[in-house]
Amino acid sequence: MNFREVPIEKVKSFWDSRPCNIRHSPAQIGTKEYFDQVEWRKYFVEPHIPKFAQFEKWKGKRVLEIGCGIGTDTINFARAGAFVTAVDISTESLKIARKRAEVFGLQDRISFYEADAERLSEFVPAEPFDLVYSFGVIHHSPHPEKIIEQIRNFYVKSGSTLKIMVYNRYSWKVFWILVKEKGKFWKLDEIIAKHSEAQTGCPVTYTYTKKTVEELIGDGFIIEEKHVEHIFPYKISKYVKYEYEKNWYWRWMPEKFFRKLEKSIGWHLCVTAKKI
Ligand SMILES: C[S@@+](CC[C@H](N)C(=O)[O-])C[C@H]1O[C@@H](n2cnc3c(N)ncnc32)[C@H](O)[C@@H]1O
Repeated sequence: MNFREVPIEKVKSFWDSRPCNIRHSPAQIGTKEYFDQVEWRKYFVEPHIPKFAQFEKWKGKRVLEIGCGIGTDTINFARAGAFVTAVDISTESLKIARKRAEVFGLQDRISFYEADAERLSEFVPAEPFDLVYSFGVIHHSPHPEKIIEQIRNFYVKSGSTLKIMVYNRYSWKVFWILVKEKGKFWKLDEIIAKHSEAQTGCPVTYTYTKKTVEELIGDGFIIEEKHVEHIFPYKISKYVKYEYEKNWYWRWMPEKFFRKLEKSIGWHLCVTAKKI
């Protein structure tokens, strides 16, 4: 499977058909209750996100978020006092993110743009940001290096921070997908994309190692920190009903050991870099 040949319209229509985390709450979409529950569930299942994003650190700063989805992190940057420019290719995700900003009275702090990040400068005025943040996005675009190129050429200055999360190839999740697909390692990229998201059949999902993500970020940045996080431990049959029961093989494991395992074979490869 060649992800580079996937038309961007296919990526857009996948995320429009089911915006990321849209079912994180059973409440009516667009209500405060819905957004509060979405946020609670996201940071309950992925508690490393607030630690990685460091929302409070960006108070009074300018943040560019690429691939904001329905805006969970976006709102938290704005709530912490940042001025946020949030971009996504998905019209449906942006509708919900915009509504979220309205519900929490944060419209004045967030500018939303519908844009393909591979051609970002055609949509978003070129100017340097203090932080460029992109969580779980770049690996879903057919040409991830074009997004980095856009960031490097148009949206950072010396001293700007880049924080990205991409999926980790050497992870429990990839092992689990291989088991589920009866070891079809010769179709690895295809089966990873098939199972990487809540909804099957994501058109593009690249995975990276600590080395290849450095190559992706490329010249002009110094990597300050990179680490892996996140193993999803819950039974899916319960999780979809908003119940959180761990699979038996995680249940017996002491929390400390589980955390250690997440740090070596977690699914989220989180990288912080600084523009030289
Ligand atoms: C897994 S979701 C992550 C959303 C959000 N960052 C979060 O953590 O909830 C991936 C998002 O990336 C967006 N995306 C994928 N390719 C994109 C591109 N080329 N330009 C802009 N957004 C893109 C999708 O529309 C989707 O909202």
